[in-house]
Amino acid sequence: MKKIGILTSGGDCSGMNAAIRGAVRTALRLNLEIVGFRKGFLGLMKGDCITLDSLAVSGTIHRGGTLLQSARSPEFRTPEGQQKALEILKGLGIEGLIIAGGDGSLAGALALHHLGFPVVGIPASIDNDIPGTDMALGVDTALNNIIYAIDCIKDTASSHARAFVIEVMGRNSGYLASVSAIATGAEFALVPEREIDLGEICMRLRTRYEEGRDNSIIILAEGAGSAQQIADSIKDTIGFETRVTVLGHYQRGGAPTVFDRLLGSRFGKKSVELLMEGKRGIMVGISCSVLGVYPLELVVNGTKSPDGDLLHLAEALGI
Ligand code: F6P
Repeated sequence: MKKIGILTSGGDCSGMNAAIRGAVRTALRLNLEIVGFRKGFLGLMKGDCITLDSLAVSGTIHRGGTLLQSARSPEFRTPEGQQKALEILKGLGIEGLIIAGGDGSLAGALALHHLGFPVVGIPASIDNDIPGTDMALGVDTALNNIIYAIDCIKDTASSHARAFVIEVMGRNSGYLASVSAIATGAEFALVPEREIDLGEICMRLRTRYEEGRDNSIIILAEGAGSAQQIADSIKDTIGFETRVTVLGHYQRGGAPTVFDRLLGSRFGKKSVELLMEGKRGIMVGISCSVLGVYPLELVVNGTKSPDGDLLHLAEALGI
């Protein structure tokens, strides 16, 4: 193998730059040429790429986002789009591709693998809903962003004796909501995996205030319901002043934590080594701090089982 490519796709996350840098530095050390496609599969289908050398990744490890930019590309889901990409890769003499992204991007990686092209995936999504890895890239930074924001909100909530419904990301995944609820001492984590019982929420909130507590924090995963409706319902049912804060894309950016810088560097390095060893159709992952690999087929067709320990912890803490 003489030349490989790398791209970042789907929702960006902090740590992607560390992964690109880890891949580039490893490739150069192994005398491999490496190119980066811009804007994910969009750039791949157009052949929009740059040669990545040491200078291209210099000064990037501490930056959020992705130096290669990212995009969501419905066209790549079609056989025509995938064929286009394959021709570009062959035309450029690229023999292996590293794809960093979430479930949709890894499905794109699997499609290329099915067409016979060597790919290795890197799990990168703040949702942490990708099977085959304990942690995806960007999750730790997003959680730190979230808890910083919630700690700030708790100060003002307490001063005004208010309840807050705070919406975090996670269309189909309650991971960010559950973990940030545990880490901030929130009262509730409302997640798409469990039905919301507004009656119970109101009852428990009333008890809290009767006991003399001066604020309540309800963390809602975006896919679990409407923050405004929940806030209105609390106000109407028990009369508490309730505010809504939607954290939105703030969660996805910012300087990566040490954890994400290390994880990205390890994933990037490992992906290049795997391609060089002739491994294909797999994703790198981490389990109990040890790097491993997982078939893309299982990543794409599986679902991540909820972390039992985490659920028990939340239950024990009364969330
Ligand atoms: O997949 C990661 C994610 O951050 C989800 O949690 C969120 O629902 C979505 O991306 C937002 O996507 P976009 O940036 O395209 O609005």
